[in-house]
Amino acid sequence: MNYKRFAPVLLVLSVLALYNSAKAQDLIDKKVDSVLSKMTLAEKVGQMNQYNGDWEATGPVTKAVGDKLGEIKQGRVGAVLNIMGSAHTKMFQDAAMQSRLKIPLLFGQDVIHGYRITFPIPLAEACSWDIDAIERAERIAATEASASGINWTFSPMVDIARDPRWGRVMEGAGEDPYLGSLIAAARVHGFQGRGLGNIDAIMACAKHFAAYGAAIGGRDYNSVDISMHTLWEVYLPPFKAAAEAGAATFMNSFNDLNGTPATGNSYLQREVLKKIWNFKGFVVSDWGSIGEMIPHGYAKDNYQAAEIAVKAGNDMDMESRSYIDNLEKLVNDGKVSVALLDESVRRILRKKFEMGLFDDPYRYINPAREKSMLNRPQSQEEAKSMAQKSIVLLKNNNQLLPLSKELKTVALIGPLGKAKKEQKGFWSLDIEPNEDIPSVFESLQKAAPKTQFVYQYGCNIDDQSHAGFAAAVEAAKKADVVVMAMGEAPDMTGEAKSKANIHLPGVQEELIKAIVETGKPVVVLLMAGRPMIFNWTADNANAILYTWWLGSQGGNAIADVIYGAYNPSGKLPITFPRTEGQIPIYYNHLNTGRPAASDKDVFYKSAYIDLPNSPRYAFGFGLSYTSFDYIDDGVFYSTTPIKDNETLKISFTLKNTGKYAGEETVQLYIRDLVSQPLRPVKELKDFKKVFLQPGESRQVTFTISRDMLYFYNDNLQYVTQPGDFQVMIGSASDDIRLKRTFELTN
Ligand code: BGC
Repeated sequence: MNYKRFAPVLLVLSVLALYNSAKAQDLIDKKVDSVLSKMTLAEKVGQMNQYNGDWEATGPVTKAVGDKLGEIKQGRVGAVLNIMGSAHTKMFQDAAMQSRLKIPLLFGQDVIHGYRITFPIPLAEACSWDIDAIERAERIAATEASASGINWTFSPMVDIARDPRWGRVMEGAGEDPYLGSLIAAARVHGFQGRGLGNIDAIMACAKHFAAYGAAIGGRDYNSVDISMHTLWEVYLPPFKAAAEAGAATFMNSFNDLNGTPATGNSYLQREVLKKIWNFKGFVVSDWGSIGEMIPHGYAKDNYQAAEIAVKAGNDMDMESRSYIDNLEKLVNDGKVSVALLDESVRRILRKKFEMGLFDDPYRYINPAREKSMLNRPQSQEEAKSMAQKSIVLLKNNNQLLPLSKELKTVALIGPLGKAKKEQKGFWSLDIEPNEDIPSVFESLQKAAPKTQFVYQYGCNIDDQSHAGFAAAVEAAKKADVVVMAMGEAPDMTGEAKSKANIHLPGVQEELIKAIVETGKPVVVLLMAGRPMIFNWTADNANAILYTWWLGSQGGNAIADVIYGAYNPSGKLPITFPRTEGQIPIYYNHLNTGRPAASDKDVFYKSAYIDLPNSPRYAFGFGLSYTSFDYIDDGVFYSTTPIKDNETLKISFTLKNTGKYAGEETVQLYIRDLVSQPLRPVKELKDFKKVFLQPGESRQVTFTISRDMLYFYNDNLQYVTQPGDFQVMIGSASDDIRLKRTFELTN
């Protein structure tokens, strides 16, 4: 088709679309103003107030549910959370419809990795580096949640995390700002689908704004003390990407940032988010975080906390009651202007209009739709595919994996071999019946019907007892191969689940030792929400699959990988340390003036005397059952320097040199060789997923453009700087296969 012929038509169409959306916005603004003009001060404050439902989630429930319904009827509540299902949400919306102005409620929920169907935890999904698949996963979550009365998710969590001790590392996309930004945008697009107003779209909420992942020592809720440069370079990019993707809402965070609680931080909320990024949605506090400015020592009481928060740009109060109890008085005392409240209420009402809630407050509440949309077979298939892509093969000595389906006996050993609901991991909802989730034991049996499977638990997750060892060793001795299902308990990661010791818990590694000593081939499955430490296993087990928490289809996905129906392709989005003392450890660090030439170079290695600097597993690492060659076949060329808006193309040939069809994630890193301020030793700037049959080759081409070379200078201006750059292409951040330099001129 000759697209050029249609160019004028396309131009007219897109101008028309822009015009129509501006007109629609205009119309909504008029409707918002009309509602606002009828509202009393108390009703305005009510819209800025959000209550939890009737069960205790991540904080104390402040009121009995009957009282809350009463307050909703008085127009004193704008949104609720943790009310799910059409019957329950209807009860609350009915109450809102009895209020004077009948302003519909918003129903928020932590739809973090699936709703009825549980998808892999977000950190696991990030291992797929499959941006489209991640978007599809959120589309399914939104389709299910929106059919159950929910119209707002407190997701995605886009906090960069460089510290695996932090329990909430499981909720994000890992340590990299570039990958994190792509995933942030994909999740927003997934939740919001074709746009708010569509019945299957729910509002996304980028959280926790900002820098919550940099909590000192990895202790949840702790202070964050980072430079403005690090804030802008590392922690803000995924938030910016979420805002640009159209995230309807943002949530601020529990931490203080350089001495100012994020909740009361007007630089973050007013200056960066609402002014520089031109964000048009609204900001909700984290659970009780307005009131928490009191124990922080930032506000004397709730009266002052409310004043600070509203002035800082926090539009809605989740569960601290600071707004509902104080905003009216603050206005009457002349401390806060009505105009300031109007701004917040406008933002909230606008979203309610955009979602069509004023036209039909019950549009998300429909039992028939709920019944038909939940747990659809095609959604389960998507969950299985996502789970397969989330698994990372860390080791596979002598090609032990995939296993043959002809093996006579396989011993399955370990505390998680028969786990069902545990596979869902933290932040999953309890809608799915546990018996629906296949255990690894069941899925292996189904996949290899000729093999006899014997199960021994060996030890419990956190056990100090060796009582189960003997039976496990006996079972191993009688088997051809042993599969061990080991890991953390699902509630060892998540909110308030930071750990000082992130080794494989209890006596599990001793159990692995005892089984490996039988001389049988051992495959270790590691299930967890964070990178764990397991050095003995890494050195001595024959094969290791890091499976994280894979959700509803975990057992099936693991069986598919073990028997080769799926060739593992996951790559780590976060660095695995050798031990806790190396933390924080991340690939995109700055160089010192004494970088390591070798680990023996005592005065020049800037390392510990008792450990190398390298991690156990680097960012971007992950094996396949096949192998890939990166061939610099002379097509790897450069037309440096890059001037103005010129681009530079770099090609090479990727060849599948192994026996299996498989997918490689080719990673492109760039380093600015001389820079003020300093730039990291490498930064991910692009990647491509390439699927090849055995023996197949394909030319892979990357395009480098100026926009990949921008960074924040000392004045926080986003600039490029002329000079030499190194481009590195490889299979992991520590497995670079091809290198070239190029120049950027002004
Ligand atoms: C968490 C948020 C969550 C909220 C509502 C808070 O404790 O920090 O991430 O969205 O609770 O459940």
